[in-house]
Amino acid sequence: MQIFHHCQSVREAISSARANGAKIGFVPTMGNLHRGHLALVRLAAEHCDAVVASIFVNRMQFGLNEDWDRYPRTLEQDIQKLETVPCDVLFCPDEQEIYPNGMDEQARVIVPTMSDILCGASRPGHFEGVTTVVAKLFNVVQPDVAVFGRKDFQQLAIIRRMVEDLCVPVKIVGADIEREDDGLAMSSRNSFIAPGERPKANQLHRSLEWIRAKLYDGNRAFKALEAEAAEQIRAAGFNVDYIRICESRSLEPAADDDNELTVLGAMYTEKARLIDNVSIALDDV
Ligand code: PAF
Repeated sequence: MQIFHHCQSVREAISSARANGAKIGFVPTMGNLHRGHLALVRLAAEHCDAVVASIFVNRMQFGLNEDWDRYPRTLEQDIQKLETVPCDVLFCPDEQEIYPNGMDEQARVIVPTMSDILCGASRPGHFEGVTTVVAKLFNVVQPDVAVFGRKDFQQLAIIRRMVEDLCVPVKIVGADIEREDDGLAMSSRNSFIAPGERPKANQLHRSLEWIRAKLYDGNRAFKALEAEAAEQIRAAGFNVDYIRICESRSLEPAADDDNELTVLGAMYTEKARLIDNVSIALDDV
């Protein structure tokens, strides 16, 4: 695996691979890699000839009171893990490389409305930071295919919309959520869960699955289901940010005649904010 820190050098390496006919796959990450990230790289390799991963903890997508400064940075271990999967190039720039003119005056990419609901409502500016850095990384790497985890379902939907609206020539592929044995979705932020909270931290997943089963049974009392699931999570000792049954593409609250639904949720442990989701296609029932 070749490692680059500068836009210019990574671009040159990729363009010579492309000139040799290689189809380029891209997996952008913020590092602290776990099994979920490695699955994204493997999936990218299935779609492409050469895979580029990036590691950049993008301060623009963190709010002032959020966890940017304590976000785990584990570059040495990340490199070792990437050596075990088909990753050809690692791009790990510093902030000066990505934002040479500073962040305040940086041109930005905004996907309106979708960026302001659900996680965007409690993390103002978060998705603007994501779409701006992803657009920028796309311009550096110029991939044919980019892979994002479905765990960040809203992020995936927003990036799909950005690519569609701005005619970005990149195919976006969503990868299934990797889970711990008890159902907890894998996340770099799981390291913030206190040992005492861990046994019940899968409650978000359990409650989303509970809603999914009710929807499959034909229950369409969306608001009541959301309220009951939130109560289950509070009873397990966590604060709830939101539980919402949405139409899968628009992320609007589900309507009675929608068939493609995704149930999204976010909850707080003492030191972590955890998200998860489950999708359901009622046509399949
Ligand atoms: O999902 C992430 O890790 C980040 O939001 C991303 C896509 C790498 C942009 O910083």
